[in-house]
Amino acid sequence: MTEPKDLIAAARVAARHAHAPYSNFAVGAALLMTDGSIVTGCNFENASYGLSLCAETVALATANAQGRLAAVVEIGVIGGAIVDGAARGTDPVGPCGRCRQVINEAAQIGGRDILVHCAGAEGERIATYRLSELLPHAFGPADLGIA
Ligand code: THU
Repeated sequence: MTEPKDLIAAARVAARHAHAPYSNFAVGAALLMTDGSIVTGCNFENASYGLSLCAETVALATANAQGRLAAVVEIGVIGGAIVDGAARGTDPVGPCGRCRQVINEAAQIGGRDILVHCAGAEGERIATYRLSELLPHAFGPADLGIA
C-alpha cells in the first residue's frame, strides 16, 4: 500500500527535474491513482516569468493526458530552495491557490475529496489536508450546471 511518505519520496524524485532557474525553488508533485500507480510533475519555469507552470498542475495535466483525471486519490507535494544543485529545507510546502483550483477539477470529476500531503525537500515532517480544507466553497463544474 502506498503511504504518504512514499508519495513524498516520489515527489522529491520528480523535483530533481524542476526547471527553476529564475526562482531557484524546486517543487515536485506525485499523484496516487486509483490503480495504485503514481503520476509525477515538477515546476517548469519560463524566461517570461508569468508563463511558468507549477508542479501540481504539470502532474494533473499529465494524468489528464493519460485519460486519468478522474482517478486521482491523493497528492504529495514537496518544495525547497535549490542550494548547490539540490532542493533543501524541511518546512512543508502547500499548493498555491491556482493549483488548489486545478486539484479541485480532478476532485470534482473523480467525485472524491483528494488528500494533499505536504512536505519540505528534506526531512520526515508531513502535513496532510483534505482539498476541502485547503479550498472551501470552491467554484467547480456544478456552478456551470455540470454534475
Ligand atoms: N510552485 C509550484 O510548482 N507549485 C506551487 O504550488 C507553488 C509554487 C513553483 C512556481 C515557481 O516555479 C516556484 O515554485 C516559485 O514560486
